[in-house]
Amino acid sequence: MRIRVLGLTGIGLVLSLFISCHRPPAGARVQGTIGRQGMVVSTHPLASDVGLAILQQGGNAADAAVATFFALAVVFPEAGNLGGGGFAVYRWQNGQIGSLDFREKAPARASRDMYLDAKGEPIKNLSLRGHLAAGVPGAVDGMVELHQKLGRLPWQQVVQPAIDLARQGHVLTEIAANNFNRSRADFEAANLSPIYLVRADRAWQKGDTVRHLDLARTLERVRDQGRAGFYEGPTADLIEQEMQAGKGLITKADLAAYRSAWRAPLTGTYRKKYRVISMPPPSSGGVALLQLLQGAEAYPISKWGHNHSQTVHTMIELERRVYADRATHLGDPDFYKVPLAMLLDPAYNRGRNANISPVAKTPSQQIKEGRVDRIESTETTHFSVADREGNAISLTTTLNGYYGCKVMVRGGGFFLNNEMDDFSVKPGSPNQFGLVGGEANAIVSHKRMLSSMTPTIVEKNGKLHLVVGTPGGSTIITGVYQVVLNVLDHGMTLQEAVNARRFHHQWLPDNVLVERGALPDSVRQRLTALGHQLIEVGNLCKVDAILVRPDGSFEGAADHTRSDGKAAGW
Ligand code: GLY
Repeated sequence: MRIRVLGLTGIGLVLSLFISCHRPPAGARVQGTIGRQGMVVSTHPLASDVGLAILQQGGNAADAAVATFFALAVVFPEAGNLGGGGFAVYRWQNGQIGSLDFREKAPARASRDMYLDAKGEPIKNLSLRGHLAAGVPGAVDGMVELHQKLGRLPWQQVVQPAIDLARQGHVLTEIAANNFNRSRADFEAANLSPIYLVRADRAWQKGDTVRHLDLARTLERVRDQGRAGFYEGPTADLIEQEMQAGKGLITKADLAAYRSAWRAPLTGTYRKKYRVISMPPPSSGGVALLQLLQGAEAYPISKWGHNHSQTVHTMIELERRVYADRATHLGDPDFYKVPLAMLLDPAYNRGRNANISPVAKTPSQQIKEGRVDRIESTETTHFSVADREGNAISLTTTLNGYYGCKVMVRGGGFFLNNEMDDFSVKPGSPNQFGLVGGEANAIVSHKRMLSSMTPTIVEKNGKLHLVVGTPGGSTIITGVYQVVLNVLDHGMTLQEAVNARRFHHQWLPDNVLVERGALPDSVRQRLTALGHQLIEVGNLCKVDAILVRPDGSFEGAADHTRSDGKAAGW
């Protein structure tokens, strides 16, 4: 979809009347991959292909999701992982829904002020780099749980493709080679001995083959022993040794104690015919998405048009309020009483949004006070799966930053997360995404850190319609929000919805990140006149999604313009 400027007679409200939304004729619509029997959309072609092959072998969406997950741990170590965690939301063909929380936990020895200096200030990078930044990984337990509850094929069969990729090696894309090279200094600083992803001879290049032999052996233990292959025995020994050598906190007792949690997903309706199913706390994603959609429902978004100045202004104002709520009210529900009923109460959200003005932004101090720096790395990864029976899984997983804390477990071949930075290390002090928090998200032993991951499924008139999610740290929520509105309100094909340039506001810092090319000059000028501070950025987040079309076929849309992603369908 393009924005067409029909005419300009000056700035001010009147300008927006001259900006209309233009939809290309049907024949010219950009579409993703179409499949009738199943679809896997992930950020790496090899991982999507592994998931598709599992579907073709008779596996269901859960089998394909587990296989894709482990394949990403090999071919996309930036965020695919064994040493991290994540969330999955599923909707089964019979209408059953559920969500799995395999988010990392604070180690037993973690404590509230562990990242503060003697003056009570955060010590730079301590929660981000090195051994102390790692939470207890949930990934392998999560995959075992997912497979036991919903899978059909033997466990060994769904883990094996990742082992094959790790042993035989895979060819690096340009993005992958650049990512290794860019992280070289971090790898050298964080690890106690050289890791194989730092080449002694030269930089990595597109087309190089990389093999992951230690990782293959870890995966073989997971294949053969399931949960025990990671949380006990040699893998647990290797993690504890790594932690002891680098003064990290995770022990074998922490690993043995880790358990994923099945949680009731959050649901809400949008414009009556849609039901949105998303991740509950300790993700902030589902709550925030449902709040944003409640807000959007009150406005003629579709009539205004995609990225019309009034649409963008309204969405920004809603985002600012929702992220302010996030900072105060959200944390791990096992440790903090999250006021979910209040946050999802339409009357509460109506009241909260009542002071949105069409002619000016609301001053931030009137929303809530705070102070932050800037957003840094936003790596995580998401994939969407649907099978021919109509079962679907939306799964987002992360190490937090690229390669997590950059520490690779020696002998284990996998990176550990730096998810401890997602806690509020000090009330009001921003994390790497510029997000602030307070008591609700303070560090406590065994507690899960708040997340923005928003794996989401949308039903239309009671049937599976959209499977969506994205990486991107704090920009995840607004990325999912925009793709959902692009499809539901703006009538885009899924590929158009994913390709469309995005913007993001998270209350603090008080500015709008706008992808290059997202907004025409006229809209930028109008938003500036309304009081918004726009900051142009490259890519915000990489959505990988599936849409069920009216004829029952799947449209898989990978975020080609922002990643190596691939929609693999049949
Ligand atoms: N580590 C990013 C998130 O969970 O939101």
